Amino acid sequence: MSGPLYTFVSRDDNSTVYAEVSKILLATGHWKRLKKDNPRFNLMLGERNRLPFGRLGHEPGLVQLVNYYRGADKLCRKASLVKLIKTSPELRDSCNWFPESYIIYPTNLNTPVAPASNGISHLKSNPKTDEREVFLASYNAKKESGDGTVWIAKSSAGAKGAGILISHDAAELLEYIDNQGQVHVIQKYLEKPLLLQPGNRKFDIRSWVLVDHQYNIYLYREGVLRTSSEPYNSEDLGDMTSHLTNHCIQKEMSQNYGRYEEGNEIFFSDFRLYLLNSHGVTLESSILPQIKHIIKSCLSCIEPAISTKHLSYQSFQLFGFDFMVDETFKVWLIEINGAPACAQSVHTDFIYNTILLAAEGNPGNLFNMAPVSNLVMQADFFQSFQRIWNQRILRICLICLLLICFFIFSYLLTR
Ligand SMILES: Nc1ncnc2c1ncn2[C@@H]1O[C@H](COP(=O)(O)OP(=O)(O)O)[C@@H](O)[C@H]1O
Ligand SMILES: [Mg+2]
Repeated sequence: MSGPLYTFVSRDDNSTVYAEVSKILLATGHWKRLKKDNPRFNLMLGERNRLPFGRLGHEPGLVQLVNYYRGADKLCRKASLVKLIKTSPELRDSCNWFPESYIIYPTNLNTPVAPASNGISHLKSNPKTDEREVFLASYNAKKESGDGTVWIAKSSAGAKGAGILISHDAAELLEYIDNQGQVHVIQKYLEKPLLLQPGNRKFDIRSWVLVDHQYNIYLYREGVLRTSSEPYNSEDLGDMTSHLTNHCIQKEMSQNYGRYEEGNEIFFSDFRLYLLNSHGVTLESSILPQIKHIIKSCLSCIEPAISTKHLSYQSFQLFGFDFMVDETFKVWLIEINGAPACAQSVHTDFIYNTILLAAEGNPGNLFNMAPVSNLVMQADFFQSFQRIWNQRILRICLICLLLICFFIFSYLLTR
């Protein structure tokens, strides 16, 4: 085989996913790695938050691809996600899968913020709107009607369960945020989660999603439950191991870490069996359709703002979508991660498939590279990632519909 055809730069030394991607690209023999600052690359494995988007796509004769979408942070910061859901015409009225949430700016911040009145116009017109009054109105209404009094305060840019307060007391939640240095979200706490047996334990679900350069959305078929190893205790809201399923909280704070499942993780293959045996429901019919619907809704609503289809460079991106399931098997979106890590046991398969989809093997193949890397059979990536949305299919259907209408119309006219 001739030498490498394509070039890449790798600028993120901290990402285990992209370190592995680099290794696999080199192993294919199709790719050559350039020095970090060489601008003549085909693919940039860039560093999140430090991507030179403005400089991409200006190298004569080069197709350039980068591993992040500019603007995708709108989904990945908690306050921006709340704002997006409340202001997007597609989501505003139909979104019943995101816990009720409010954006709160600490009063100790020096930035001027506007108090929110009712409705969403305030969020649209004012970039920094504090929703505490609207939150308090809803808090009181729920308290009176018996719809639950527990809420959770989380820092917008927070991660790993840090800086979280769960409380029945609205004043305590607001005071907590007012002593912080950054914008927070107060969200309705899901008080009746589906619990795992044995042990009556809470969990959340991580699903990995790839958006390729044509904005096809793929859901990786393996997902993982991150479980708590302590019983769910609605009486003690301060017991973080019982309420927060983050891996690091469980690992650092639970005496029982690893007691029920290795690494407090359950993969879909086992969860599928568990659901069937203990609840008589299938993952495919009960939970996955809801997960797919939520992923499609979120990514489609920002597509016009972030798509690179008509730009001089192209993007792809991996996302980690986190969900909770309540006792009625309803799925709720908790947060979206724009640079997800990947569970060790699926690491290699996941990364092979990412590369094949994102760089080498997808339909409409960006680099026109054939054959697909011989490390993985072409069929594997369709099996591993399920394509859940394809704009092109929609467009083709629309054109067919228009053609049919046209022929019927012409036929009626000539009769
Ligand atoms: N609305 C909620 N209701 C119940 N539990 C929640 C809610 N939001 C978050 N949690 C729990 O708290 C954990 C951390 O919250 P998350 O929003 O994911 O913040 P972080 O960025 O710190 O991971 C979640 O994994 C979940 O276990
Ligand atoms: Mg989280």
